Amino acid sequence: MDILTYGDYYVSHFVVRNATVRTSIGSVGACVFWASGEIGVIVVKTPEDWIQDRLLENRMSTSFWVNGVQHTVDVDPSKPLLWVLREQLSLTGTKFGCGIAQCGACTVHVDGQAVRSCVRTIASVAGLQVTTIEGLAPAPDQLHPLQQAWIDHQVPQCGYCQSGQLMSASALLASNPAPNDDEIDAAMRGNVCRCGMYGRIREAIRSTSLIADHKEQLFVDAMEVDHA
Ligand code: FES
Ligand code: FES
Repeated sequence: MDILTYGDYYVSHFVVRNATVRTSIGSVGACVFWASGEIGVIVVKTPEDWIQDRLLENRMSTSFWVNGVQHTVDVDPSKPLLWVLREQLSLTGTKFGCGIAQCGACTVHVDGQAVRSCVRTIASVAGLQVTTIEGLAPAPDQLHPLQQAWIDHQVPQCGYCQSGQLMSASALLASNPAPNDDEIDAAMRGNVCRCGMYGRIREAIRSTSLIADHKEQLFVDAMEVDHA
């Protein structure tokens, strides 16, 4: 009997004598086979099971702050911040796009800087302040000025990229409250919008930067806001 494995991950396809059996990737369970008088059972592990086992083997306790609240998670230290936010903390406003720091959908703030959470390990943010789209507004019943501008300018279309767009734009205005178009384009270049809303995004940022009454709100550190 030959058993074909792909890497160390799982048995998805094996050969019993001359009979080839394919299992369904993504289903958990066992496969009973019979060939030439042999009867046996092979337990099939899905890729998800295998990954989960490895994560449990390597997990480590990491503490960090998210939107003003301290969290401690027990996960593999190499796990990307994006997946800790989404899976451990259920903060699903931060989106997965490419996973290789090329689209900006996963942008969050780490100590006030816009970063791609898909390529930041959880270990790298130990003890640091993370702000996600859920913590951008200064209060639960209040919008960040950029969020209001996004509504006023009807920026979101499918909406998938918008969390990342807002996090990049808010980091820009926090460091440069009156950027010119070149500075806006440079800061937003890494955020891809498949719906092509670049013009409206720039208009919304530009309009927000010119609203003097809202200027002070741009500097509200969402990490210090008590959302309880
Ligand atoms: S998912 Fe992180 S940059 Fe695309
Ligand atoms: S609004 Fe659809 S990808 Fe940007």
